[in-house]
Amino acid sequence: MPVTSVISGGSRGLGLAVVERLLERGDCVATFSRSGSAALTSLSDRHPERLHAEQFDAADSDAVRAFVSRVTTRFGGIDHCIANAAVAHEGVTATIRDDEIDAMLNVNLRGSIVLVRECVRQMLIRPYGNESGHESARSGSPSVVVVSSVVASQGSPGLAVYAATKAGLEGFAISLARELGPRGIRVNAVAPGFLETDLSASLSEGNRARIVRRTPLGRLGVPADIAGAIDFLTGPRAAFITGQILTIDGGAAG
Ligand SMILES: NC(=O)c1ccc[n+]([C@@H]2O[C@H](COP(=O)([O-])OP(=O)(O)OC[C@H]3O[C@@H](n4cnc5c(N)ncnc54)[C@H](OP(=O)(O)O)[C@@H]3O)[C@@H](O)[C@H]2O)c1
Repeated sequence: MPVTSVISGGSRGLGLAVVERLLERGDCVATFSRSGSAALTSLSDRHPERLHAEQFDAADSDAVRAFVSRVTTRFGGIDHCIANAAVAHEGVTATIRDDEIDAMLNVNLRGSIVLVRECVRQMLIRPYGNESGHESARSGSPSVVVVSSVVASQGSPGLAVYAATKAGLEGFAISLARELGPRGIRVNAVAPGFLETDLSASLSEGNRARIVRRTPLGRLGVPADIAGAIDFLTGPRAAFITGQILTIDGGAAG
């Protein structure tokens, strides 16, 4: 039985790169976002049997629950959950609006927690390891990866609320790793630096040049840089890695 991976926000940016990467390695992949995209439709056409894509809002807990249930029925279980969907409203905290605060808390933090909870429930009711011979059917240990950001630990002016949601996610991941380790489920976070995606499109040329100057590897990250790390963290080579925050920023954090 193929491995099944669930990822939120797979229509573009990092999420799309992860969907592509996990399809390439042979997984069944389930994703959702509020809108579709031409790139995701093209992937669905190429992999109709292994790609499940829906459209709904990550802040809608009932929709998330129903989605996880449909995916479980379609693919027979869930092995990996990647909480990736997020929104960023940039602006000084003194003037940030309630609806912008709510959107970031509800999508980035609450939405990720609800998705992970629903997926973990499915992982917990499936036998892994030596029970019932499932080890040969589904290789590797089940895992969760939450997508954080370097701003969670380093801060960034104009991104205080966004940073709070990412710091919250990191705390969630570290505690969940302790909670689920005894059940054989690994939980890690990735913390990218600035990436070339729609989310960072508002970055001014001056700021972009400044980030590149202070990055030892001399460029901004691209989605494939992070997708490779998520491939690793959800794969058998990471079988003894849990509770970690992996910074992926070309060395900018020093
Ligand atoms: N780009 C960066 O510089 C950077 C740096 C560090 C960390 N990150 C993190 O990396 C992750 C991916 O970011 P990205 O740059 O790939 O962002 P992106 O290009 O804006 O893509 C975000 C994805 O999430 C989906 N999404 C957003 N709000 C949603 C909602 N309410 N419900 C369902 N889906 C939703 C989007 O689709 P719809 O809009 O159609 O819903 C899209 O598929 C995020 O967690 C972000 O915080 C990004």
